[in-house]
Amino acid sequence: MVRPYGIKGHKRKRREENYEKEEIEQVVEETAGTTEKSKTAAATPDEEKAGEVVHELAGIPIVPCDQSTKTGVIFILEKASLEVGKVGKAILTILDSPVNKSGRLRALYVRTDKGVLFEVKPHVRIPRTYKRFSGIMLQLLQKLSITAVGKREKLLRVIKGPVTQYLPINSQKIGFSHSSEKLVDMRDYVAAVNDDVNLVFVVGAMAHGKIDKEYVDDFISISDYPLSAAYCISRVCNAVEQKWKIV
Ligand SMILES: C[S@@+](CC[C@H](N)C(=O)[O-])C[C@H]1O[C@@H](n2cnc3c(N)ncnc32)[C@H](O)[C@@H]1O
Repeated sequence: MVRPYGIKGHKRKRREENYEKEEIEQVVEETAGTTEKSKTAAATPDEEKAGEVVHELAGIPIVPCDQSTKTGVIFILEKASLEVGKVGKAILTILDSPVNKSGRLRALYVRTDKGVLFEVKPHVRIPRTYKRFSGIMLQLLQKLSITAVGKREKLLRVIKGPVTQYLPINSQKIGFSHSSEKLVDMRDYVAAVNDDVNLVFVVGAMAHGKIDKEYVDDFISISDYPLSAAYCISRVCNAVEQKWKIV
């Protein structure tokens, strides 16, 4: 069920809260029945916002994949500012992709600009509006995990760094930056990687600055132009989908 949320004055400001001004469906409340308000007398406005969303997110069905025989992709979003909706958009681009729906997304990790690392399960349904997304993020940071409806599975959870300890050994870690001198055609680049290698893509989710090169094996640019993280990710997903013939 979708709850219309009232807009009292400051309409322009509210509209800007949505990812790139998009009005898109609200998903969290499809988990109705588990909604819990957590307002306290001393709650801050941010905490109140967090209390408006549910503690559990529904999972979406994705095609189960034999993880023992097929390699997959892992995304790491670096330096994400949770106050800025851009990371939500980048996460949605990954979760909505056919790569994920085909079951080949192994993992998604987000490291915030404050150094908090969290894991997003590939089948989680992330809220599609900034307001609800930031509420979930606040809950995650307070409770350290968010569980699936009626299950024990943690769909989102804060984990200990470094992220490299969670990566498969047979993986190639590829960092992205417009400033890299190695400009590649992403489709050719991905096509040339051996099929027995997992692909780990490290993309910046910050507004300014670039990712650290410390743990990547290669550092590439995929366009002559600076791209948004979401666009960069969609180009990466397209290349992988072409390689693995995911249509
Ligand atoms: C909004 S940008 C971050 C801004 C930052 N000034 C930069 O270019 O790295 C988001 C991320 O998308 C990726 N990206 C953007 N343009 C790219 C390009 N032309 N080639 C490769 N990656 C790119 C990078 O990982 C970047 O950190």
